[in-house]
Amino acid sequence: MTEYDFPAWLRVSHLLNFFLIGLLIRSGWQIIATHPRFYWRNDCGPGTDWIRFTRRVVPREEGAYMARDDESSLPSWLALPGGKNIGLGRHWHGLVTVLWVANGFFYVGLLFLTGQWGRIVPTSWDVIPSAWESLTVYAGFGIPGIEHFTPYDSLQQLMYFTVVFIAAPLMLVTGPAMSPALIGRHPWYAKMLGGRQAARSLHFLGMAFLTFFTVMHIALVFVVHPDHNLPQMMFGVDDPARFAQALTVCLIGIALVVAAWLAISYLSLVDVRKTQRLLFALLEPIRAVTVNRMVSRTRRASTYTDKDISPYHWSNGRHPTSEESPEWTALAEGGFEDFAMEIGGLTSHPVRVTLDELKALPQQEQIAMHTCMQGWTGIAKWKGPKVMDVMALAGQRDPAARFLMVTSFGLAQKMHDGRPLEPYYSCIPLADCLEDESIFAWSMNDRPLPLTFGAPLRLRVESIHGYKMVKYIHALEWIKDYREVGDGMGGTREDSGYQAINARI
Ligand code: HEM
Repeated sequence: MTEYDFPAWLRVSHLLNFFLIGLLIRSGWQIIATHPRFYWRNDCGPGTDWIRFTRRVVPREEGAYMARDDESSLPSWLALPGGKNIGLGRHWHGLVTVLWVANGFFYVGLLFLTGQWGRIVPTSWDVIPSAWESLTVYAGFGIPGIEHFTPYDSLQQLMYFTVVFIAAPLMLVTGPAMSPALIGRHPWYAKMLGGRQAARSLHFLGMAFLTFFTVMHIALVFVVHPDHNLPQMMFGVDDPARFAQALTVCLIGIALVVAAWLAISYLSLVDVRKTQRLLFALLEPIRAVTVNRMVSRTRRASTYTDKDISPYHWSNGRHPTSEESPEWTALAEGGFEDFAMEIGGLTSHPVRVTLDELKALPQQEQIAMHTCMQGWTGIAKWKGPKVMDVMALAGQRDPAARFLMVTSFGLAQKMHDGRPLEPYYSCIPLADCLEDESIFAWSMNDRPLPLTFGAPLRLRVESIHGYKMVKYIHALEWIKDYREVGDGMGGTREDSGYQAINARI
């Protein structure tokens, strides 16, 4: 029979798990703070949230309240990295997920390879009445006798089983359902979980359970037979004589982990650009072998129909004011009849095209889910010509041009270095432009694009997050490399919000 001891690999991966799960929870809170509401339905309408962490009330009038108005700032000791830094929070969440999953597979793999699985997998139904008995003992502020801990008592074993074989896989399964690339390509995946927002809610519930578990677990370590379990956890031996030593090592370990959590937050903020570049470089190879291979096919699979269209659709970024863009305001006053867009850059015949010319091209209609990196979604019907058909109006693309720079009449909400606000722009990788569902939409839900949603023209690329789908389009330009424009990060949200140019997750 396997002896359930505490081998070094188990202790090391347990410590690593503690460190990583703290980073996951804290970066998760950073993401939640930008849209602190959870839903079961994909349209995220006002009042349909089942839980919220804000007192703000969302008016029913579409466009009266922006998703950005809902964002809160969190302190750096709580969230990773803290402040209003969803960009860095998302990078951290992605990177730590990879490490956490690798550590999880290492742990579970060794659990089975070494025959140690029996320590947390119950093999008899007796575990249930026995766990209930332990629960009643705890409820009466008692502690089950040491003879129950071989090495764990039934309640403890059930909890550990739940954490490792239910809660952790739940996080693993629901996380990817939040990627627009994955659900654009494989809509069944989100449907299987009850929809994208249901997956997000389940991910949240998993986080709440793991947070509760972590706090209780740490508290109980110091309360339930600490003279036995601390020497086991720290040194792998059941030797109460080494309790003081084990307690010291354990407290130092916890203090070091907490210090590392805080240091990561503060160091991330010392030079946000450096942090952004570093995390991007580490994450990009992972995206390259996962989401980069997924091309949206929402329309072909007829994932959504007219009845799925959201009665309320969130949006971000108010339309330009007359001070920000007198040109756009004048065009809007004239019903955009005089609208004409420059298409140029690395192409053989730069041109100016009008809205009528765009409408004369073959039109594509698609009902698609808009996914914001803040967490909300909305389903709408979009219509317009394909990106590559529009670009063909300007002749041959120079093969050196790998990105399409889309510039807006609207301004950025803030600049990285505090300089005066510049026009919002985004660089779209050629592969995204070539997708079947990449269009310039002039119509939303069978009406001309409303002002809030980007009139007269906006970009739709259904495999990526909303921050790259420029609204109020002013000009299009083929460019060689996104590093040569703006602050060199790929767009306004990348330059000043520290997001990634790759918005597929
Ligand atoms: C202990 C494990 C984990 C915890 C505590 C955790 C927690 C969270 C929380 C609280 C959020 C914010 C949800 C929101 O407001 O949208 C989040 C987002 C997310 N999580 Fe996790 N998570 C964990 C593991 C994972 C895993 C294993 C994956 C992927 C396999 C994953 C992928 C994601 C994704 C893609 C998002 C959306 C983030 C974004 O927009 O960038 N998470 N997570």
